[in-house]
Amino acid sequence: MKNLMDIYARKKKDIAAIEKELAESIYTDHAMLKEASLHLLKAGGKRIRPVFVLLSGEFGNYQLQTMKHVAVPLELIHMATLVHDDVIDDADTRRGQLTVRSKWDNRIAMYTGDYIFAKALGVITQIHKPAVHQIMSKAIVEMSIGEMEQIRFFFNHEQTIRDYLLRIRRKTALLIAISCQLGAMAADAPDWVSNKLYAFGYNVGMAFQIRDDILDLIGTEKQIGKPPGSDVKQGNITIPVLFALQDPELKPLILKELERIQLLDGQTDVSRFLDLIRNSEGIDKSEALSQKYIDKAIAALDPLPNTQAKQDLVEVAYFIGNRSY
Ligand code: IPE
Ligand code: IPE
Ligand code: MG
Ligand code: MG
Repeated sequence: MKNLMDIYARKKKDIAAIEKELAESIYTDHAMLKEASLHLLKAGGKRIRPVFVLLSGEFGNYQLQTMKHVAVPLELIHMATLVHDDVIDDADTRRGQLTVRSKWDNRIAMYTGDYIFAKALGVITQIHKPAVHQIMSKAIVEMSIGEMEQIRFFFNHEQTIRDYLLRIRRKTALLIAISCQLGAMAADAPDWVSNKLYAFGYNVGMAFQIRDDILDLIGTEKQIGKPPGSDVKQGNITIPVLFALQDPELKPLILKELERIQLLDGQTDVSRFLDLIRNSEGIDKSEALSQKYIDKAIAALDPLPNTQAKQDLVEVAYFIGNRSY
């Protein structure tokens, strides 16, 4: 079985080309914007969205030059939302580095995010397909709603699993879905192919965020590049917690902790809360749900031709289901 690194190795040259284009795309003479956006770019990241663009493009007429003009904007949109997300979440570290908002301040982070967004729009104009632009615009709108919804539901323990799933669909899954879809569309793959890839990306994206939320509860700081328990400190109640709250014995204990954390505005030790969730069925149930999404994602690829790209997508999906970083 191949791992993610082997897949990256096969696409190494193209990923390197995208990396170079990313750096060029955010270049500016403005010292502040340059420093802040380079800070995030240099902190690295998995570049999973560009990888999805490239692999999906292989289902059509793959031209690196064209693929670049889709992969770069998608990573830039991702980066812009991270800079904004860290403002919303009051996060101090990301990718093992200080966040833009913490190294500079919230205002600088807002404008840096806007700047990176604008650059993404600039690059995508090189794809002369209005449908591509429309799909991107719609996804960004949904992401904004998802992030607003996250704020609305902060510390709300009465939210349903459905509220949670709808939120992560917007804030995470759709961008991954369109990374696959647009990669295929830019390569002129037939509609039915880009639609299957969209379904694949959507389901992988749901699993991706569920896994992210599990890792925030059980991961180490070294693995996740930020202190565990960041979500609950911000008030973000994620699916392992919602599952844990279904246990009538645990529920009052968890609620007491949540109330305490909220009262102290997250400025407190959350290890008791983490222990409660880790010892509940919440983690296992969330892992099972994430696996269901991975299975659905892989099933969506069934009708596609059996190519290397398809095998690689399956491997990436498995990686995402089990990822520890
Ligand atoms: C983090 O995304 C935000 C989520 C959608 C969970 P990634 O885990 O892809 O972040 P990087 O780019 O690898 O840092
Ligand atoms: C993902 O949400 C952020 C976006 C989709 C913009 P999180 O808040 O869970 O991401 P991390 O954990 O900060 O990376
Ligand atoms: Mg966050
Ligand atoms: Mg998170």
